[in-house]
Amino acid sequence: PPRVFSGIKPSGGLTLGNYLGAIKRWVEMQEDPTYETIFCVVDMHAITVWQDPADLTRATREVAASMIASGIDPERSVLFNQARVPAHVELGWLFSCVARVGWMNRMTQFKDKAGKNAEKVSLGLYAYPALMAADILLYHATHVPVGEDQKQHVELTRDIAAKFNHDYGVDFFPLTEPVTEGPAMRVMNLRDGSKKMSKSGESDMERINMLDDADTISKKFKKARTDPEALPSEVAGLKDRPEAKNLVDIYAGLSDTTAEAVLAEFGGEGWGKFKPALADLAVAKLAPVSDEMRRLLDAPDELDAIMARGAERASALAEPILKKTYEIMGFVR
Ligand code: TYM
Repeated sequence: PPRVFSGIKPSGGLTLGNYLGAIKRWVEMQEDPTYETIFCVVDMHAITVWQDPADLTRATREVAASMIASGIDPERSVLFNQARVPAHVELGWLFSCVARVGWMNRMTQFKDKAGKNAEKVSLGLYAYPALMAADILLYHATHVPVGEDQKQHVELTRDIAAKFNHDYGVDFFPLTEPVTEGPAMRVMNLRDGSKKMSKSGESDMERINMLDDADTISKKFKKARTDPEALPSEVAGLKDRPEAKNLVDIYAGLSDTTAEAVLAEFGGEGWGKFKPALADLAVAKLAPVSDEMRRLLDAPDELDAIMARGAERASALAEPILKKTYEIMGFVR
């Protein structure tokens, strides 16, 4: 069956963006028998920016807990943390020697993150798309469900696979597809509709964290920036209204419908009606997940054991592919 691979960095708390753009759709793919699903807590990626060791440990468990609490079943899917499967880093190095510096220079996420400080960021932050390509291709995964912000990296993964195949005259690595359809693939900051909602934004009011309690969620949606106009009845009416569009998309993502359907229900209504409805919906969807996360986080040993067991399964899938890669390249081992 086609393999699905995706991952989340354990760098700070998880947001509604991670939930709608990634985890929620992973669960749908897990339920679809056409796929074999592999999900990874990509701790090796987290350290591209400084992580306090205790924070890294806590965040690794939190990401694993969020996946399980959202419905990833560690029996049906392979769920593990990357540091336990060193084959990722090995293939990552091989791919650093396939990828070109010019390709890395085009990565918009690096440009955004490094900004004017490009001389001061870690070499790992610059090179990390090669490790991401290794994460995916180590399993010959062809389907990679990610939010919009990761699409360019998945496309780079195709370029790396194609160049490897070409340079060595083989047809070994498959060409990967980013899977990014859905209403909330780019959840925006609640205070500024031109910026992505992220774990690392300055103010906590700009994001919904998966562990926020009901009052906090309601308060954040109530204070979310909007324009003074009522909701339009057609999607075209959201053009040039980024904050309004974002809230409608979040509603659609949480309720498994489309923006069209949300506007069919709320078109003509004001924010005084829509925001409380959105807050209630978010609480109804997120509270069971965060309750279960807290319960799982109370037993860190169990979480660690689940990830260790997943890592054994992941290694068994990865080893033959890594071995073959070394052979193709001519290593004497
Ligand atoms: P990361 O940890 O930044 O984000 C994890 C997933 O959440 C999605 N996401 C969002 N989706 C919609 N709206 C948002 N505001 C939002 N914020 C985050 C991301 O698109 C992603 O799907 N490099 C990756 C992790 C990674 C990976 C991989 C992913 C490493 N190796 C291999 C797929 C396959 C990252 O930093 O994601």
